[in-house]
Amino acid sequence: MDRKESDAYLRLDPARLPQHIAIIMDGNGRWARRRHLPRVAGHRAGVAAVRSTVETAARIGIPALTLYAFSEENWKKRPKSEVDFLMRLLCHYLKAEIKTLNENNVRLQYIGRRYELPAIVQREMAEASEATAGNTGMILTLALNYSARSEIVDAFRALAEAASRNGGLDHLELSEQAISENLYTRDLPDPDLVVRTSGEMRLSNFLLWQLAYAEIYVTQTLWPDFRGVQLLEGIEEYQKRERRYGGLGGDPGHTREHAKPREHAEAKL
Ligand code: FPP
Repeated sequence: MDRKESDAYLRLDPARLPQHIAIIMDGNGRWARRRHLPRVAGHRAGVAAVRSTVETAARIGIPALTLYAFSEENWKKRPKSEVDFLMRLLCHYLKAEIKTLNENNVRLQYIGRRYELPAIVQREMAEASEATAGNTGMILTLALNYSARSEIVDAFRALAEAASRNGGLDHLELSEQAISENLYTRDLPDPDLVVRTSGEMRLSNFLLWQLAYAEIYVTQTLWPDFRGVQLLEGIEEYQKRERRYGGLGGDPGHTREHAKPREHAEAKL
Protein backbone atom coordinates (compact mmCIF):
# COMPACT_ATOMS: atom_id res chain seq x y z
CA MET A 1 0.00 0.00 0.00
CA ASP A 2 1.30 3.47 -0.78
CA ARG A 3 1.01 6.42 1.61
CA LYS A 4 -2.31 7.69 0.19
CA GLU A 5 -3.83 4.24 0.43
CA SER A 6 -2.71 3.59 3.97
CA ASP A 7 -4.05 7.03 5.03
CA ALA A 8 -7.39 6.20 3.40
CA TYR A 9 -7.38 2.75 5.03
CA LEU A 10 -6.77 4.27 8.48
CA ARG A 11 -10.00 6.28 8.10
CA LEU A 12 -12.01 3.04 7.78
CA ASP A 13 -13.60 0.93 10.47
CA PRO A 14 -12.27 -2.57 9.69
CA ALA A 15 -15.18 -4.13 11.58
CA ARG A 16 -17.73 -2.63 9.16
CA LEU A 17 -16.30 -3.39 5.76
CA PRO A 18 -18.80 -4.23 3.03
CA GLN A 19 -18.99 -8.00 2.57
CA HIS A 20 -19.53 -7.72 -1.16
CA ILE A 21 -18.66 -4.80 -3.44
CA ALA A 22 -19.93 -4.63 -7.01
CA ILE A 23 -18.37 -2.23 -9.53
CA ILE A 24 -19.68 -0.88 -12.83
CA MET A 25 -16.44 0.00 -14.61
CA ASP A 26 -17.29 2.90 -16.91
CA GLY A 27 -15.51 5.71 -18.74
CA ASN A 28 -12.80 3.88 -20.70
CA GLY A 29 -13.92 5.48 -23.96
CA ARG A 30 -14.00 8.99 -22.48
CA TRP A 31 -10.58 8.50 -20.91
CA ALA A 32 -9.18 7.63 -24.34
CA ARG A 33 -11.04 10.44 -26.14
CA ARG A 34 -9.60 13.04 -23.76
CA ARG A 35 -6.16 11.86 -24.77
CA HIS A 36 -6.98 11.69 -28.49
CA LEU A 37 -6.45 7.95 -28.38
CA PRO A 38 -8.61 5.17 -29.87
CA ARG A 39 -11.32 3.82 -27.52
CA VAL A 40 -9.49 0.52 -27.09
CA ALA A 41 -6.57 2.38 -25.44
CA GLY A 42 -9.02 3.16 -22.63
CA HIS A 43 -9.88 -0.51 -22.23
CA ARG A 44 -6.19 -1.41 -22.15
CA ALA A 45 -5.57 1.22 -19.48
CA GLY A 46 -8.57 -0.18 -17.59
CA VAL A 47 -6.67 -3.38 -16.84
CA ALA A 48 -4.30 -1.53 -14.47
CA ALA A 49 -7.37 -0.23 -12.63
CA VAL A 50 -8.73 -3.77 -12.34
CA ARG A 51 -5.41 -4.99 -10.97
CA SER A 52 -5.09 -2.24 -8.35
CA THR A 53 -8.73 -2.55 -7.25
CA VAL A 54 -8.57 -6.32 -6.90
CA GLU A 55 -5.31 -6.21 -4.94
CA THR A 56 -6.52 -3.55 -2.53
CA ALA A 57 -9.87 -5.25 -1.97
CA ALA A 58 -8.16 -8.59 -1.30
CA ARG A 59 -5.55 -7.09 1.02
CA ILE A 60 -8.02 -5.28 3.24
CA GLY A 61 -10.15 -8.42 3.54
CA ILE A 62 -13.21 -7.74 1.37
CA PRO A 63 -14.83 -11.21 1.02
CA ALA A 64 -16.35 -10.66 -2.43
CA LEU A 65 -15.77 -8.28 -5.35
CA THR A 66 -17.79 -8.39 -8.56
CA LEU A 67 -16.73 -6.45 -11.66
CA TYR A 68 -19.04 -5.70 -14.59
CA ALA A 69 -16.63 -6.28 -17.45
CA PHE A 70 -18.88 -7.04 -20.40
CA SER A 71 -22.65 -6.82 -20.70
CA GLU A 72 -24.88 -8.71 -23.14
CA GLU A 73 -25.70 -5.33 -24.65
CA ASN A 74 -21.99 -4.43 -25.14
CA TRP A 75 -21.66 -7.51 -27.29
CA LYS A 76 -24.54 -6.53 -29.57
CA LYS A 77 -24.15 -2.76 -29.75
CA ARG A 78 -20.40 -2.12 -30.13
CA PRO A 79 -18.34 -2.41 -33.32
CA LYS A 80 -16.97 -5.89 -33.93
CA SER A 81 -13.40 -4.56 -33.82
CA GLU A 82 -13.94 -3.22 -30.27
CA VAL A 83 -15.63 -6.44 -29.12
CA ASP A 84 -12.79 -8.51 -30.60
CA PHE A 85 -10.27 -6.30 -28.82
CA LEU A 86 -12.10 -6.71 -25.49
CA MET A 87 -12.08 -10.50 -25.95
CA ARG A 88 -8.34 -10.52 -26.65
CA LEU A 89 -7.72 -8.22 -23.70
CA LEU A 90 -9.76 -10.49 -21.44
CA CYS A 91 -7.79 -13.57 -22.58
CA HIS A 92 -4.55 -11.72 -21.93
CA TYR A 93 -5.77 -10.60 -18.49
CA LEU A 94 -6.86 -14.11 -17.54
CA LYS A 95 -3.43 -15.52 -18.42
CA ALA A 96 -1.35 -12.71 -16.98
CA GLU A 97 -3.19 -12.24 -13.69
CA ILE A 98 -3.27 -15.81 -12.39
CA LYS A 99 0.00 -15.27 -10.55
CA THR A 100 -1.18 -12.09 -8.81
CA LEU A 101 -4.56 -13.65 -8.01
CA ASN A 102 -2.83 -16.62 -6.40
CA GLU A 103 -0.42 -14.37 -4.48
CA ASN A 104 -3.43 -12.55 -3.07
CA ASN A 105 -5.38 -15.79 -2.37
CA VAL A 106 -8.18 -14.68 -4.74
CA ARG A 107 -10.61 -17.19 -6.25
CA LEU A 108 -11.88 -16.25 -9.69
CA GLN A 109 -15.36 -17.08 -10.97
CA TYR A 110 -17.83 -15.71 -13.52
CA ILE A 111 -21.43 -14.71 -14.00
CA GLY A 112 -23.20 -14.31 -17.35
CA ARG A 113 -24.12 -16.53 -20.29
CA ARG A 114 -20.59 -17.74 -20.88
CA TYR A 115 -21.62 -20.37 -23.45
CA GLU A 116 -22.31 -17.51 -25.91
CA LEU A 117 -18.70 -16.29 -25.71
CA PRO A 118 -16.04 -17.45 -28.22
CA ALA A 119 -14.71 -20.96 -27.44
CA ILE A 120 -11.15 -19.68 -26.90
CA VAL A 121 -12.38 -17.18 -24.30
CA GLN A 122 -14.38 -19.89 -22.54
CA ARG A 123 -11.25 -22.04 -22.43
CA GLU A 124 -9.13 -19.27 -20.90
CA MET A 125 -11.89 -18.54 -18.41
CA ALA A 126 -12.03 -22.18 -17.33
CA GLU A 127 -8.24 -22.39 -17.01
CA ALA A 128 -8.00 -19.24 -14.90
CA SER A 129 -10.80 -20.25 -12.55
CA GLU A 130 -9.33 -23.74 -12.16
CA ALA A 131 -5.89 -22.26 -11.43
CA THR A 132 -7.33 -20.20 -8.57
CA ALA A 133 -9.94 -22.71 -7.35
CA GLY A 134 -7.92 -23.65 -4.25
CA ASN A 135 -7.70 -20.07 -2.96
CA THR A 136 -9.61 -19.30 0.20
CA GLY A 137 -9.58 -15.49 0.30
CA MET A 138 -11.63 -13.02 -1.72
CA ILE A 139 -14.00 -14.27 -4.40
CA LEU A 140 -13.53 -12.20 -7.57
CA THR A 141 -16.50 -12.53 -9.89
CA LEU A 142 -16.23 -11.19 -13.44
CA ALA A 143 -19.55 -10.44 -15.10
CA LEU A 144 -19.01 -11.42 -18.72
CA ASN A 145 -21.79 -11.38 -21.30
CA TYR A 146 -23.93 -10.57 -18.29
CA SER A 147 -27.48 -9.18 -18.16
CA ALA A 148 -29.47 -9.02 -14.93
CA ARG A 149 -32.75 -9.56 -16.79
CA SER A 150 -31.36 -12.64 -18.54
CA GLU A 151 -30.15 -13.89 -15.17
CA ILE A 152 -33.66 -13.55 -13.73
CA VAL A 153 -35.14 -15.28 -16.80
CA ASP A 154 -32.61 -18.12 -16.36
CA ALA A 155 -33.55 -18.41 -12.67
CA PHE A 156 -37.27 -18.69 -13.51
CA ARG A 157 -36.51 -21.25 -16.24
CA ALA A 158 -34.50 -23.32 -13.75
CA LEU A 159 -37.36 -23.17 -11.25
CA ALA A 160 -39.91 -24.16 -13.93
CA GLU A 161 -37.74 -27.05 -15.11
CA ALA A 162 -37.24 -28.25 -11.53
CA ALA A 163 -41.03 -28.15 -11.04
CA SER A 164 -41.71 -30.09 -14.23
CA ARG A 165 -39.19 -32.76 -13.22
CA ASN A 166 -40.84 -32.87 -9.83
CA GLY A 167 -44.45 -33.48 -10.96
CA GLY A 168 -45.62 -30.23 -12.59
CA LEU A 169 -46.73 -26.67 -11.91
CA ASP A 170 -48.11 -27.48 -8.47
CA HIS A 171 -44.48 -27.98 -7.44
CA LEU A 172 -43.28 -24.61 -8.72
CA GLU A 173 -41.70 -22.88 -5.79
CA LEU A 174 -41.80 -19.11 -6.17
CA SER A 175 -40.33 -17.22 -3.24
CA GLU A 176 -37.59 -14.64 -2.80
CA GLN A 177 -35.35 -17.35 -1.38
CA ALA A 178 -36.01 -19.75 -4.27
CA ILE A 179 -35.26 -17.04 -6.83
CA SER A 180 -32.06 -15.92 -5.02
CA GLU A 181 -30.90 -19.52 -4.88
CA ASN A 182 -31.28 -19.86 -8.64
CA LEU A 183 -29.44 -16.68 -9.63
CA TYR A 184 -25.86 -16.88 -10.95
CA THR A 185 -24.78 -15.28 -7.66
CA ARG A 186 -26.32 -17.99 -5.47
CA ASP A 187 -23.02 -18.50 -3.61
CA LEU A 188 -22.52 -14.78 -2.84
CA PRO A 189 -24.14 -12.43 -0.34
CA ASP A 190 -26.02 -9.53 -1.96
CA PRO A 191 -23.66 -6.56 -2.51
CA ASP A 192 -23.62 -3.98 0.29
CA LEU A 193 -22.03 -1.38 -1.95
CA VAL A 194 -22.20 -0.72 -5.69
CA VAL A 195 -19.63 1.64 -7.20
CA ARG A 196 -20.03 3.27 -10.60
CA THR A 197 -17.22 5.24 -12.18
CA SER A 198 -17.37 8.20 -14.59
CA GLY A 199 -20.37 9.93 -13.02
CA GLU A 200 -23.25 8.06 -14.68
CA MET A 201 -26.29 7.43 -12.46
CA ARG A 202 -27.50 4.14 -13.92
CA LEU A 203 -27.47 0.47 -13.00
CA SER A 204 -27.27 -0.62 -16.66
CA ASN A 205 -28.89 -4.02 -16.13
CA PHE A 206 -26.35 -5.04 -13.46
CA LEU A 207 -27.39 -7.30 -10.55
CA LEU A 208 -30.88 -5.76 -10.46
CA TRP A 209 -32.26 -8.27 -7.96
CA GLN A 210 -29.18 -8.39 -5.74
CA LEU A 211 -28.72 -4.60 -5.47
CA ALA A 212 -32.14 -4.06 -3.88
CA TYR A 213 -30.62 -2.70 -0.64
CA ALA A 214 -27.10 -1.78 -1.77
CA GLU A 215 -25.61 1.63 -1.09
CA ILE A 216 -24.76 3.39 -4.36
CA TYR A 217 -21.49 5.28 -4.71
CA VAL A 218 -20.87 7.21 -7.92
CA THR A 219 -17.48 8.75 -8.55
CA GLN A 220 -16.51 11.12 -11.37
CA THR A 221 -13.21 9.23 -11.76
CA LEU A 222 -13.02 7.48 -15.12
CA TRP A 223 -12.33 3.75 -14.81
CA PRO A 224 -8.72 3.80 -16.14
CA ASP A 225 -7.84 6.37 -13.42
CA PHE A 226 -9.49 4.32 -10.63
CA ARG A 227 -7.12 2.71 -8.11
CA GLY A 228 -7.26 1.07 -4.70
CA VAL A 229 -7.33 4.46 -3.00
CA GLN A 230 -10.57 5.38 -4.82
CA LEU A 231 -12.07 2.09 -3.68
CA LEU A 232 -11.17 2.95 -0.08
CA GLU A 233 -12.81 6.38 -0.53
CA GLY A 234 -15.97 4.62 -1.69
CA ILE A 235 -15.90 2.35 1.36
CA GLU A 236 -15.41 5.41 3.61
CA GLU A 237 -18.51 7.00 2.09
CA TYR A 238 -20.40 3.70 2.56
CA GLN A 239 -19.46 3.64 6.23
CA LYS A 240 -20.98 7.10 6.69
CA ARG A 241 -24.36 5.95 5.40
CA GLU A 242 -27.14 4.70 7.63
CA ARG A 243 -28.54 1.48 6.22
CA ARG A 244 -32.24 1.01 6.93
CA TYR A 245 -33.51 -1.88 4.78
CA GLY A 246 -36.92 -0.23 4.71
CA GLY A 247 -37.00 0.32 8.47
CA LEU A 248 -36.75 3.56 10.43
CA GLY A 249 -33.07 3.37 11.34
CA GLY A 250 -31.55 3.27 14.80
CA ASP A 251 -33.01 -0.21 15.21
CA PRO A 252 -30.18 -2.70 15.70
CA GLY A 253 -32.25 -5.33 13.91
CA HIS A 254 -31.77 -3.37 10.71
CA THR A 255 -28.06 -2.66 10.87
CA ARG A 256 -25.48 -4.42 8.77
CA GLU A 257 -23.95 -6.25 11.71
CA HIS A 258 -27.21 -7.98 12.46
CA ALA A 259 -28.69 -8.52 9.02
CA LYS A 260 -27.44 -11.57 7.17
CA PRO A 261 -27.49 -11.19 3.37
CA ARG A 262 -30.54 -13.39 2.82
CA GLU A 263 -32.44 -11.62 5.58
CA HIS A 264 -32.43 -8.26 3.78
CA ALA A 265 -35.47 -9.29 1.80
CA GLU A 266 -37.49 -10.07 4.92
CA ALA A 267 -36.89 -6.56 6.33
CA LYS A 268 -38.26 -4.70 3.30
CA LEU A 269 -41.25 -2.35 3.34
C1 FPP B 1 -16.92 0.78 -20.08
O1 FPP B 1 -16.30 1.87 -20.68
C2 FPP B 1 -16.06 -0.38 -20.05
C3 FPP B 1 -16.28 -1.56 -20.72
C4 FPP B 1 -17.45 -1.82 -21.56
C5 FPP B 1 -15.33 -2.66 -20.69
C6 FPP B 1 -14.70 -2.95 -19.37
C7 FPP B 1 -13.35 -3.49 -19.60
C8 FPP B 1 -12.26 -3.20 -18.87
C9 FPP B 1 -12.30 -2.35 -17.68
C10 FPP B 1 -10.93 -3.68 -19.25
C11 FPP B 1 -10.61 -5.07 -19.02
C12 FPP B 1 -11.31 -5.79 -17.95
C13 FPP B 1 -10.93 -7.00 -17.57
C14 FPP B 1 -11.64 -7.72 -16.50
C15 FPP B 1 -9.79 -7.65 -18.15
P1 FPP B 1 -16.96 2.53 -21.96
O2 FPP B 1 -16.25 2.02 -23.16
O3 FPP B 1 -18.43 2.30 -21.97
O4 FPP B 1 -16.62 4.04 -21.70
P2 FPP B 1 -17.41 5.32 -22.22
O5 FPP B 1 -18.77 5.28 -21.57
O6 FPP B 1 -16.57 6.47 -21.73
O7 FPP B 1 -17.47 5.24 -23.71
